[in-house]
Amino acid sequence: MVPNTDDRREPGPIASAGGLIRRVAGPDRTVSRVPGDHPPTVRTAVSADIDHIVAVRHQVAEEGRWIGAEVPFDTAEAARRTRTAIEDAEYGVFVAEMDNAIVGTATVDFTSRGVTSFGMMLLGSYRGRGIGTLLLDRVIGWSRAHGAHKVSLQVWPHNEPALALYTRAGFEIEGILRAHYRRRNGELWDAVMMGLPLSRPAGAHE
Ligand SMILES: CC(C)(COP(=O)(O)OP(=O)(O)OC[C@H]1O[C@@H](n2cnc3c(N)ncnc32)[C@H](O)[C@@H]1OP(=O)(O)O)[C@@H](O)C(=O)NCCC(=O)NCCS
Repeated sequence: MVPNTDDRREPGPIASAGGLIRRVAGPDRTVSRVPGDHPPTVRTAVSADIDHIVAVRHQVAEEGRWIGAEVPFDTAEAARRTRTAIEDAEYGVFVAEMDNAIVGTATVDFTSRGVTSFGMMLLGSYRGRGIGTLLLDRVIGWSRAHGAHKVSLQVWPHNEPALALYTRAGFEIEGILRAHYRRRNGELWDAVMMGLPLSRPAGAHE
């Protein structure tokens, strides 16, 4: 995802060519699995989630290196777009909850015939606990249920956690957009394009 709503079309971008993906420093990826911890859940977003979704996006954008959005951005406009997506059956909007709070979100829609594209993000302290995998499962499930033959995304080349997540889920690198996205500081960033073909259910016909 480009890194999105508009992040869906920019990276969230890329590529593990040559086995470059490696584990990077991060939180203990097993913390949510300790006794007494409430497991994360993922559900379809509702209107009451809008401000929380925008807040997650804002916090991740503040980090400046994972998604397409950069701060400051128009949060009122982001809220309007999020509402439109939640109310439009052509979009799948999901939220991840943990500790009685919304800690992540994903949005998917069709960007060309039969092909979906998505964006996803989690608050920093909730990464590495399997929540991204849960969100990605929902995105792929939504795409399949809506008849997609392929799921696509863009990711920044330096986003090793995201590249690893997508590769583990079966996405493959299909290309690199060179110096494609201009950041506010003037830098031009590459984006990695990845895709996951979806097999047709047994018995399905063209
Ligand atoms: C990318 C992101 C959604 C991944 O979600 P997550 O919940 O941390 O990922 P998971 O815990 O489900 O990990 C799934 C797999 O991804 C890979 N992975 C996740 N974090 C990783 C890290 N820090 N280093 C290397 N691999 C990592 C691993 O293969 C992992 O499987 P494993 O636990 O069996 O080793 C999350 O890091 C995030 O929100 N980042 C900021 C926003 C962003 O980059 N969005 C995507 C833009 S394209």
